[in-house]
Amino acid sequence: MDKLIIKGGVSLKGEIRIAGAKNSALPILASTLLTHETVQICNLPHLYDITTMIELLGCMGVQPIIDEKLNVEVNSSTIQDFSAPYELVKTMRASILVLGPLLTRYGKAEVALPGGCAIGSRPVNLHISALQAMGADIVVEDGYIKASVDGKLRGAHIFMDLVTVTGTENVMMAATLAKGQTIIENAAREPEVVDLANCLVTMGAEISGQGTDTIVIDGVEDLKSCSYSVMPDRIETGTYLIAAAATRGHIKAKDTRPDILESVLSKLEQVGAEIKVGEDWIELDMHDKRPNAVSLRTAPYPAFPTDMQAQFTALNSVANGTGSITETVFENRFMHVHEMNRMGASIRVEGNTVIVDGVEALKGAPVMATDLRASASLIIAGLVSENETSVDRIYHIDRGYECIEEKLQSLGAQIRRVSS
Ligand code: UD1
Repeated sequence: MDKLIIKGGVSLKGEIRIAGAKNSALPILASTLLTHETVQICNLPHLYDITTMIELLGCMGVQPIIDEKLNVEVNSSTIQDFSAPYELVKTMRASILVLGPLLTRYGKAEVALPGGCAIGSRPVNLHISALQAMGADIVVEDGYIKASVDGKLRGAHIFMDLVTVTGTENVMMAATLAKGQTIIENAAREPEVVDLANCLVTMGAEISGQGTDTIVIDGVEDLKSCSYSVMPDRIETGTYLIAAAATRGHIKAKDTRPDILESVLSKLEQVGAEIKVGEDWIELDMHDKRPNAVSLRTAPYPAFPTDMQAQFTALNSVANGTGSITETVFENRFMHVHEMNRMGASIRVEGNTVIVDGVEALKGAPVMATDLRASASLIIAGLVSENETSVDRIYHIDRGYECIEEKLQSLGAQIRRVSS
């Protein structure tokens, strides 16, 4: 199993290019099941989760083609099987995103029920109840969600009890080919939901309200071929900016979107960073200063993203002062804290809040990653440690960060991958 070995103490400096967003690329790949015409997707990030989604399409008889510019073309007309097996769903929960498209276009789908994961129980009850409200017949048996519909799904007025990102995406995709109008209230407003909606509109769907908490979808007969470029990854962008701030560095992130990172950039300014932005770039300069601790609370977009919570915990661990971080989206997203404490951090957990007393520097140690964003936070912790850190179980990081060690090396970090 691969490990990352990090020698800390270097301030990150330089420029990097941000990849396409994993969390929009995944639903956009699933949306290709909605049409028998060819869909071209550009700016896909090179990640394990993307490979898993392509493999999932392959299991169904759909063979995506990758061209010389690494754009992917998908034509789903060769589909033979309408199921997502447990072997793939257990490695990537986002496999649930094929449920809505398969059901609305082919009238049937079987998707393994995702289990809990390191950050919480993560049920999919809201996906199921919304599709049932649209006329789907759904049973959960033998560990599978078995869904079918007699004829077409029909439009419905759906109120989501909780803001769910993939739940909103599944229902939105299902509604594009349903009979009549669907209204999703308390919809997720995440930029990735908007990116998926914009892709669906390019395919001929009738959608309005994306980016607000009420999305209206008027079902159409067919969707058609299109070419769509995935938006930049805001979480990858934020992760590198936080790493630069924690190491008192100065970096420029290119091919990104400052407009969807407001909550994060405002926290980085409170940390003491000078931030400059252009249309598609963000520059962060700490002027060699130690960061100040910040307090924050995660919540659905446009509030502070849960996917950036662990990285700020790493930053706070070496900041000036005390910061508190409250997690409101997932119930168990503090696994990284115990590993950071092993590196000399002073962090205590009180319910769904962590209180972080900043120390001058961490001390390198062997640590273990438990989930994707926790892995990123442990790498940041390694970068601000006095000696060597090894981060084990980095398959988590390869799910969501493209070439992380190459990108960090290009910013001056001393980081290398070793096989053990
Ligand atoms: C997506 C993102 C993930 C991010 C999360 C929250 C993708 C592929 N993943 O995950 O990176 O951390 O949004 O921004 O886009 N819930 C229920 N019932 C449901 C659905 C959700 O109770 O049917 C709960 C979850 O347990 C969680 C909360 O709702 O507590 C939000 O989860 P959700 O937005 O659905 O997360 P994902 O879409 O899985």
